[in-house]
Amino acid sequence: MDNFKRNILITGGAGFIGNHVVRLFVNKYPEYRIINLDKLTYAGNLENLEDIKCQRNYKFIKADIADLAEMRRIITEYRIDGIIHLAAESHVDRSIKDPFTFARTNVMGTLSLLQAAREYWESQTERYEGKLFYHISTDEVYGALELTNPEGIESPFKTSASSEHHQAYGTEFFLETTKYNPHSPYSASKASSDHFVRAYHDTYGMPTIVTNCSNNYGPYQFPEKLIPLFINNIRQGKALPVYGKGENVRDWLYVEDHARAIDLIFHKGKVSETYNIGGFNEWKNIDLIKVLIRTVDRLIGNPEGTSDHLISYVTDRMGHDMRYAIDSRKLQSELGWEPSLQFEEGIEKTVRWYLDNEEWMNRITSGDYQRYYQEMYSDR
Ligand code: NAD
Ligand code: TYD
Repeated sequence: MDNFKRNILITGGAGFIGNHVVRLFVNKYPEYRIINLDKLTYAGNLENLEDIKCQRNYKFIKADIADLAEMRRIITEYRIDGIIHLAAESHVDRSIKDPFTFARTNVMGTLSLLQAAREYWESQTERYEGKLFYHISTDEVYGALELTNPEGIESPFKTSASSEHHQAYGTEFFLETTKYNPHSPYSASKASSDHFVRAYHDTYGMPTIVTNCSNNYGPYQFPEKLIPLFINNIRQGKALPVYGKGENVRDWLYVEDHARAIDLIFHKGKVSETYNIGGFNEWKNIDLIKVLIRTVDRLIGNPEGTSDHLISYVTDRMGHDMRYAIDSRKLQSELGWEPSLQFEEGIEKTVRWYLDNEEWMNRITSGDYQRYYQEMYSDR
């Protein structure tokens, strides 16, 4: 085995955020060996990593994080000293239909990974020195905020990338100290995994960091989530299913800005700390959907307003959280992170990417993306 300076395990690297993190680390740190461990569920797509798959410091392993014996074997065999844990079931609507899969992967999977890392690291003479278990979590664990300003007011917080639409829809924000209050099976399972990570620090002294990020958007997101689903539907002239009245608020961050934050925190974050990641970028769903419609129509040459009629209000999601809004001032002030892209630029880039990568989208909607790689890894 080559002698790399560090051996870093990234779980969930074939998913949406994971592929951006893997790409960033593989390209930026040729001195690190990057092991991408992913089960390749419906959400995992190795086509997302075609551009880096032949790099000498990159290796893919198909495995299930809930398989403790496999986690022990892989962490030991590859002498893993850093873990960036993204693998999870991530879609709220699926968690409402099938909560058990979420408990299995998000809770038992995280626990298996923690336990395997603990056993390996404790068996080393230097024990936990130079090791880190970095757990990627969500703002959804904090629950939901109230919509006290439904029309929006000027947000009290800014970043250097804040756009003209700089609204807050309530007076409260999620802080690192906000009490956990998850509502969906997805957020309950992520909350549980966060608690296990902190318990491994507090009980065994494992060096851990947890970050809680707001909604991500950008290239390679699976088209069950709002932004890629709606871009694709607008392109195809299909209905846009808006849950409830479209008044729910989400706080959006460009995925590469999240990946940059992960890189910074992995290298400079303080062990045992929690950092919230977000760009103070709240949008009411219906306003965001109108931006998507305008952008897609403009880019494909439709006259303005062509796709407005596609908006279709449907039955609300059960237990639909009203508002998420992250306060990321700790990360800004302690580590100097800020988003690099204004939302308008990020959305333009994102819409262009999905329009330019129609083939990627079609291979997902037809199921072809899975057939190819499932066959290649069918022995595992
Ligand atoms: P995703 O659903 O796009 O990807 C998840 C990846 O994990 C897939 O590649 C899948 O194959 C893999 N996976 C699932 N179960 C597995 C298992 N048992 N073993 C190994 N691999 C498995 O998710 P995402 O949107 O990229 O989110 C990544 C992480 O970031 C998650 O932990 C999520 O909770 C968190 N997060 C996501 C967002 C967001 O807006 N997407 C925001 C904040 C935090
Ligand atoms: P989603 O992308 O599923 O992320 P999350 O639920 O984790 O925030 O949804 C973003 C918002 O868009 C959320 O308020 C639910 C809403 N939504 C719709 O109105 N219609 C849809 O078809 C989807 C997928 C989401």
